[in-house]
Amino acid sequence: MEMIREYADWFYLIGAVLFILTLRGLSGPKTAIQGNRYGMIAMAIAVLTTFFVADNPVVWMIVGAMVAGAVVGIVRARTVPMTQMPETVALMHSLVGLAAVLIAIAAIIHNNKLIELGPDLLAANGVNFHEMSRVHLFELFVGCFVGAITFTASVFAYGKLAAKKWAKTISGAWVKPVQAIIFIAMLVFGFMFFSTGNMTAFWAMTALALVFGWVWIAPVGGGDMPVVVSLLNSFSGWAAAGIGFTLENNMLIVAGSLVGSSGAILSYIMCKAMNRSIINVLFGGAMGGTAAPTAGAGEQVQRNHRSGSADDAGFLMSNADSVVIVPGYGMAQGRAQNAVKELANILKEQGVTVRFAIHPVAGRMPGHMNVLLAEADVPYEDILEMDEINSDFPATDVVLVIGANDVVNPAAKDDPTSPIYGMPILEAHKARTIMVIKRSMATGYAGLDNDLFYNDKTMMIFGDAKKVVEDMTKAINGTGH
Ligand code: TAP
Repeated sequence: MEMIREYADWFYLIGAVLFILTLRGLSGPKTAIQGNRYGMIAMAIAVLTTFFVADNPVVWMIVGAMVAGAVVGIVRARTVPMTQMPETVALMHSLVGLAAVLIAIAAIIHNNKLIELGPDLLAANGVNFHEMSRVHLFELFVGCFVGAITFTASVFAYGKLAAKKWAKTISGAWVKPVQAIIFIAMLVFGFMFFSTGNMTAFWAMTALALVFGWVWIAPVGGGDMPVVVSLLNSFSGWAAAGIGFTLENNMLIVAGSLVGSSGAILSYIMCKAMNRSIINVLFGGAMGGTAAPTAGAGEQVQRNHRSGSADDAGFLMSNADSVVIVPGYGMAQGRAQNAVKELANILKEQGVTVRFAIHPVAGRMPGHMNVLLAEADVPYEDILEMDEINSDFPATDVVLVIGANDVVNPAAKDDPTSPIYGMPILEAHKARTIMVIKRSMATGYAGLDNDLFYNDKTMMIFGDAKKVVEDMTKAINGTGH
C-alpha cells in the first residue's frame, strides 16, 4: 500500500496514457474492442490508486458503492437494446454531472467544518490546514455549475430520447429571456461565492444551474438530441476535470479533459456532417439561425417514380460486378442488419464485389450504422466511410439504398435553396443503377423530397427493409446464378 502511495503519480501517468490509447482505439471499428480494453484497465488503475492514496477512507462505503455501481452497469450493459443506446449514454452523463456537484458540495462542507474547528485545535491534532484559495473556490464554482447543468440537461435528454411524458419540449417568446436571466443570475451568485466564499451564494448558484440545465435543453428538438448528448458528454468531462483540480487528482484532470475535448470534437463533426452550426442546434430559431427542418416540409408536387420487386432487384444485383450498399435509419428501424449481411454474403458467393458506404450521420446516433453492421459481423474491410467511397460510385453497377434518404439526397449538392445544401452526401446518384428500399415515398429526418427517387436510373422497392432484403436473398438463391 505504501508503495502505491509513493508511486501514485506514476500509476496515474500509466492510466492517462492508456486513456489516450483508448480514444485512439475507439476511432476505428477494427481497433475499438482493444480500445475498450485499454479504457477498462486505465479505469481500474485510476480507481484502485485513488482508493489506496485516500486519507482515512471509509472502506465499506467505497467498496459498497463500487459493487452497487458495477452491478447496475453490468446489468444495464447486458440488457440495453442498441436502439436505447443514446438515452443510456445521456443517463450516464447525468451521473457524471451529479457526481461533480456532490463532490463540490462535500469539499466545501469539509472545508467549512475544518474552519469551524479552528486552527489551534487542528494544529494540536497535527492537521495541516490552509483555507481554500480563490483559485480553489473558482475551480469548485466551475466544476459545480457545469456539473449541475450537465445533470439536469442530461436527465432531460434521456427523457426526450426515451419519449417520457415529463420531458416536454418548451417553446415560446419567453424562453430566451428566461434562459438569459437564469444564466446571468447563476454567474452573479457564482462570482459572489468565489470572491467571498458565501455559502448562500453557493447554494443559489447550484440551484440556478440545475434549473438552467433544464430550460436550456428543453427547447431543443428531439432530432437534435444526439448532438446535444455529445455536447453533454463534453460538459461532463469538463466538470470532472474541474473537480479533479479540487481533489488534486491528476488522473481526473487528464481523463476529464480527454472526455471534454473528444466530446467537443465529436459534436463539431456531427454538426458539420449535418451542415448545422452548434449555435443553431442549441439555440434553435433564436440568434438568427433556423431550426432543424421537420418532416412534412417537402414539396407536394406529384412526380413519377419507377418501382420494382425484390425478385427483379435480386436478379439485377446477382448479375452485377459491383454492388455498394448504403444503409440508413430505415435499416436500424427495420432491424434489417442481419438480413443485409446474408444478402451481402450470397452476392459475394455469386462473385459480386459488395461494399458498404457509411455516411457520418446516417441513422440517429454517431456510428449508428457501424455498430449495427459490426453486430451482424460484416467484415470491417467491406465498410467504407463517405470520403473513401464517393469517388467509386460512377464505376459502381448497383447502389442498394436501404432505408437511407437525406444522406443520399442530391439536393445537398445541386440545390442552393435546399435547407440541407452544403451537407456532404454519399453520391449514390452517380452509380449506373440505383435501388432504394423504403416503405413509401415519405421524407426522411430533414422532411425533404429526394430527387434520387425520381431519377431515371432508380428503382424503388417498397416494403419493410428486413422483409424486402430477405426476399431479395431468396430470389438470388432461387436463381442459382
Ligand atoms: P432519413 O433521412 O431519416 O431517412 C430514413 C428513411 O428510412 C425514411 O425516408 C423512411 O422512409 C425509411 N424507413 C424507415 N423505417 C423503415 C423500414 N422499417 N424499412 C424501410 N425503410 C424505412 O435517414 P438517413 O438517410 O440515415 O439520414 C439520417 C438523418 O438523420 C440525417 O438528416 C441526419 O442529419 C439526421 N440525424 C442524424 C444523427 C446522427 S448522429 N446519425 C443525429 C441526428 C439527426 P419510409 O417511411 O418511406 O419507409
